[in-house]
Amino acid sequence: MAFPPRDRPSREQPVARIGRAPMTTGRERSGPAERKSLAPRSATITIMIRAAFAAAKGLKRDFGEVEHLQVSAKGPADFVSRADIMAEKVLRSELARTRPEYGFFGEEGGETKGDGRNRWIADPLDGTTNFLHGVPHFAISLALEREGEIIAGIVYQPISDELFWAEKGNGAFIDTPNARSRRLRVSARKEMNQALVGTGIPQKGRGDHPAYLKKLEVVMGQTAGVRRWGAAALDLAFVAAGRYDAFFEFGLAPWDVAAGNLLVQEAGGLVTDIAGQPYALGGPSILACNTGLRDQIIGVLA
Ligand code: IPD
Ligand code: CA
Ligand code: CA
Repeated sequence: MAFPPRDRPSREQPVARIGRAPMTTGRERSGPAERKSLAPRSATITIMIRAAFAAAKGLKRDFGEVEHLQVSAKGPADFVSRADIMAEKVLRSELARTRPEYGFFGEEGGETKGDGRNRWIADPLDGTTNFLHGVPHFAISLALEREGEIIAGIVYQPISDELFWAEKGNGAFIDTPNARSRRLRVSARKEMNQALVGTGIPQKGRGDHPAYLKKLEVVMGQTAGVRRWGAAALDLAFVAAGRYDAFFEFGLAPWDVAAGNLLVQEAGGLVTDIAGQPYALGGPSILACNTGLRDQIIGVLA
């Protein structure tokens, strides 16, 4: 069941409902089957969702191909790097059709300057290593920054068909094949020994491994479990959905976290650096958690 929104959308009018005429004609243009949404969405979030669904179509097709390429001697690496470049191209062109004046900052294509006020921030494929290995845990992450503030974000997992979305001041929601626009809330857990914590383990050539292992060791010793699923945008979405009680990682880029941060905040959670200081997009460390665990987890990570 959907909860009523806290506020009506203020910045973007008219309010649109995905799946209702005249915005659509029975199906999303390129995405999965129509879902009637009970939560009001701005025109902006509607455009973002359509762009992500269009990009997801190619990713799903390519993911199927990757599963075949696993057994070839060359492997699917080159193929995958083309898949994420193509997904970003689709995002860029879909968004440019309706918002040609907006800038675009993507992991693959870098920065395209726009009106200086609005900028899309996109990771067309978060969880590349999973994708490359045929692990069906990856997502498209797309955010809109306006005058330096993230005001809308979506994280879409094409394989599970889970769509996490949020607009500043209007809450965070999830659409799944079975539930439409369900309000997201971070978990209420306050006990560290019951907490499930997501993280990102630095790989070869990245990060300070001994320093990371010290943090991990303390978290492991005090919590119900630690998970490393390999897609930071989804890790943050999982905190917003109350699946993880907290998430921490080092060295993430703006496109990894722009949408996920807003999801967590709009779901009532906190995003800081691991010392509890304000998190700047692309800063050296990130901690997302519910309010009840904040002080304890910062103490543990200190
Ligand atoms: C990566 C994933 C991963 C995180 C890495 C990111 P990519 O993004 O989000 O979970 O640990 O630091 O670079 O390369 O799959 O888009
Ligand atoms: Ca990423
Ligand atoms: Ca990526």
